[in-house]
Amino acid sequence: MWFYIAIFVFLAFSNGVSTDVPDCPGPFNPPNNISTKVVYPVSNDTVTFPTGYNCVYQINVPQGWSSYVVVTAIPSSNLTNSPILQVIDFNQNVESFQYVRFEKFYFIAPGGRIKLSTQTTNVTFLFSVQWYSNLTVYQPTFLNVSASDTQPVTVDLSTVNCHVTAETRASAVTIPLDSIYTIEDQRSTLRSIFIFDGPNENTTCLGSAYQLFNSNRQFVSTGKTLTVVQLQPSTYYSSSILLIQDFENTKEIGQYRGVGSLGDLPIVMDASKQSSAFSTYSFGGLSSDCLVNITGTGTLDVYYGGKTESKSNLIASYSESSNGLNLPQKIRGVVRTYALTGGIATVQIVPNSVCGLLKHNVAGFITSREYKTNLTLRYSEDRQSYYSDGPFNYTLNIQNVDLSQNKSLSLSIYNNHTGVVNFVYNSSNPPSLNTVVSGVGNEMEVIYSSPYSNSKKGGFYIDFTATKVEKSAAKYFDFIVICAILWIGLF
Ligand SMILES: *[C@@H]1O[C@H](CO)[C@@H](O)[C@H](O)[C@H]1NC(C)=O
Ligand SMILES: *[C@@H]1O[C@H](CO)[C@@H](O)[C@H](O)[C@H]1NC(C)=O
Ligand SMILES: *[C@@H]1O[C@H](CO)[C@@H](O)[C@H](O)[C@H]1NC(C)=O
Ligand SMILES: *[C@@H]1O[C@H](CO)[C@@H](O)[C@H](O)[C@H]1NC(C)=O
Ligand SMILES: *[C@@H]1O[C@H](CO)[C@@H](O)[C@H](O)[C@H]1NC(C)=O
Ligand SMILES: *[C@@H]1O[C@H](CO)[C@@H](O)[C@H](O)[C@H]1NC(C)=O
Ligand SMILES: *[C@@H]1O[C@H](CO)[C@@H](O)[C@H](O)[C@H]1NC(C)=O
Ligand SMILES: *[C@@H]1O[C@H](CO)[C@@H](O)[C@H](O)[C@H]1NC(C)=O
Ligand SMILES: *[C@@H]1O[C@H](CO)[C@@H](O)[C@H](O)[C@H]1NC(C)=O
Ligand SMILES: *[C@@H]1O[C@H](CO)[C@@H](O)[C@H](O)[C@H]1NC(C)=O
Ligand SMILES: *[C@@H]1O[C@H](CO)[C@@H](O)[C@H](O)[C@H]1NC(C)=O
Ligand SMILES: *[C@@H]1O[C@H](CO)[C@@H](O)[C@H](O)[C@H]1NC(C)=O
Repeated sequence: MWFYIAIFVFLAFSNGVSTDVPDCPGPFNPPNNISTKVVYPVSNDTVTFPTGYNCVYQINVPQGWSSYVVVTAIPSSNLTNSPILQVIDFNQNVESFQYVRFEKFYFIAPGGRIKLSTQTTNVTFLFSVQWYSNLTVYQPTFLNVSASDTQPVTVDLSTVNCHVTAETRASAVTIPLDSIYTIEDQRSTLRSIFIFDGPNENTTCLGSAYQLFNSNRQFVSTGKTLTVVQLQPSTYYSSSILLIQDFENTKEIGQYRGVGSLGDLPIVMDASKQSSAFSTYSFGGLSSDCLVNITGTGTLDVYYGGKTESKSNLIASYSESSNGLNLPQKIRGVVRTYALTGGIATVQIVPNSVCGLLKHNVAGFITSREYKTNLTLRYSEDRQSYYSDGPFNYTLNIQNVDLSQNKSLSLSIYNNHTGVVNFVYNSSNPPSLNTVVSGVGNEMEVIYSSPYSNSKKGGFYIDFTATKVEKSAAKYFDFIVICAILWIGLF
C-alpha cells in the first residue's frame, strides 16, 4: 500500500517536473493565422516555474506591425530585493516587477523581451501575444499648434490617433487623471499610446505615453510634426490626456511633468539649472487646484494655460518673500501650468474644497474659469463659495469683469445666514473697478452668470482678502453689520 502511494507520488512529482518546467524557447514570431493568440507555456493553464529559473523570451514584431502582450507572474513568496520579471521594449526601456496579474504591454518593431528570473521563489507564470498587421484602426485627426497659443491642445488618451503640426517643434506631456479606472488599467492605456517623431508612424518612435509620463520631461519633435497612435486592441480605461504645445513656449523647461492621479504629491521642482514645470488639467475648467504650500527658493509663475513668453495668461507669481503668507489660493482654468525658475521648491496642490474653507488669513484673488484663456466654456452659472471658521473680514476689489451680453456678477457676504453685503453688477449697473467692498461674516459667495451658456466670456478677476476678526471685537461688528443691512435696504 505505502509502496503504491510512494510510486504514485513519485510519478506525479516527476510528471509535474517534466511538463511544468518548459525549456527556454527561441524567439516568438507571428503565427501564419494572426487571429490566433499565442500563449506560453501552455494554453489556458498556469504553470509554476521553480526557483533559479532564468529565461528571456524574445517577441519579434515585423515593421509596421504591433503586438499586444499580457503577462502574469505570481511568486509564491514576494521577494523585495530584485525583480522576478522585467519587460524590455523596442527602445530598451525596462519595466521591473515583483508581481503582475494580466499586466498589458504593447510592442512595435522590432519587438520586445520578457525576462523571468525566479531567484529564490517559485513563480506561476503565463503570457500571451496577439499580433496586429497594422498599427491602428482609427482615422487620424489633425491638430495645429503655434507659438502664439496660450492654451495647449489637449488630446484625450482613450481613443487617439492624431497628426500634430507645430509652428516650430511640437512638445508633448502626459497628464494622468483621476479616474474611475484602476491605476493598472490607466497604466496599460498609457502604454498603448505611441508617439512618433514625424508625420506618420513609419518615423522614429520617441516612446509610449507611459514612458513620457515617467521621464519627467517633454517629448519634442525634431521637425514640425508629431504623430500619436493608439495601438490595438483599443482600451477605454483612461481619462488621461496628452498636452501638446509649441516648443517655442516650453523650450526653457527641463523637468516637465503632468500631475494627476499617478502623480507624487507634494511636487519637488528643481530649477537650479533649467526651469522646471508641471501642468494639471480639468475638463471644461469644472474643478480647480488649491495651491496650499510653496517652500524653497526661486520664482513660481502660475499660468491659466501653458507657459508663454508674453505672460499674457500669467495669473500669479510667487517668490521666497511671499512663501506661505497668503495661501491657500484657488487656481482655475482648464490647463494650469506652474513654472519655477532659479531655485528648488516644493509645491503642494490639493483638491478644490480645501480652498473654500478659510482657517487663516488669506490674500489672493478670485477669478472665473476662463479668465485670460480666451476659451469658450459652456456654462450659465459659475458659483464659488467660501466659508470661514468664525467671523472674517472679507474684502473684494474688482479689477476686471466682462458684463457684456447680459452677463452678471454677484458678490454676497453672509453672517450666520444673514446677508451682510449683496451686490449684483451687470452692464447697466457696472462696479467701480479698484474699489474695496468689505463685510464681516462667515460665508461669501461670488456668482458669475450668463444667460447664453455658450457665449464667449471674458471672465473676471477680483483681489480678495479674508482677515480673522478678533472675538472681542465681534459684537461691535454685529452692530456695523446691522447698520450695513439697513443701509443696503434703503436702496
Ligand atoms: C484563424 O484563427 C481564428 C481564431 O483562432 C479562426 O477563427 C479562423 O478560422 C482561422 N482562420 C484560418 C484561415 O484558419
Ligand atoms: C479555457 O478556460 C476557460 C475557463 O477557464 C474555458 O471556458 C475555455 O473553454 C478553456 N479553453 C480551452 C481551449 O481549454
Ligand atoms: C505578493 O504581493 C501581491 C501584491 O502586492 C499580493 O497580492 C500577494 O498576496 C502577495 N503574495 C504573497 C505570497 O505575499
Ligand atoms: C517550490 O515548489 C517546490 C515544489 O512544489 C517546493 O518543494 C518548494 O518548497 C517551493 N519553494 C519555495 C521557495 O516556495
Ligand atoms: C488593421 O487591422 C484591423 C484589425 O486588427 C483591421 O480590421 C483593419 O482592416 C486593418 N486596417 C488596414 C488598413 O489594414
Ligand atoms: C493646420 O494648418 C494647415 C496649414 O498650415 C491647414 O491647412 C489646416 O487646415 C490646419 N488644421 C487645423 C485643424 O486647423
Ligand atoms: C509605412 O510603411 C509601410 C511599409 O513600408 C507602408 O506600407 C505604409 O504605407 C507606410 N505608412 C505611411 C503612413 O506612410
Ligand atoms: C508647508 O510645507 C512645509 C515643508 O514641508 C511644512 O513645514 C509646512 O508646515 C507646510 N505649511 C502648510 C501651511 O502646510
Ligand atoms: C480669442 O478667440 C477668438 C476666437 O474665438 C479669436 O478670434 C481671437 O483672436 C482670440 N483672441 C486672442 C487675444 O487670442
Ligand atoms: C454665529 O453664531 C454663533 C452662535 O450661533 C456665534 O458663536 C458666532 O459668533 C456668530 N458669528 C458671527 C460672525 O457673529
Ligand atoms: C475690513 O477691511 C477693510 C479693508 O481693509 C477695512 O476698510 C474695513 O474697515 C474692515 N472692516 C472691519 C469691520 O474691520
Ligand atoms: C439683455 O436682456 C434684455 C432684457 O431681458 C434684452 O432686452 C436684451 O436684448 C438682452 N441683451 C443682449 C445683448 O442679449
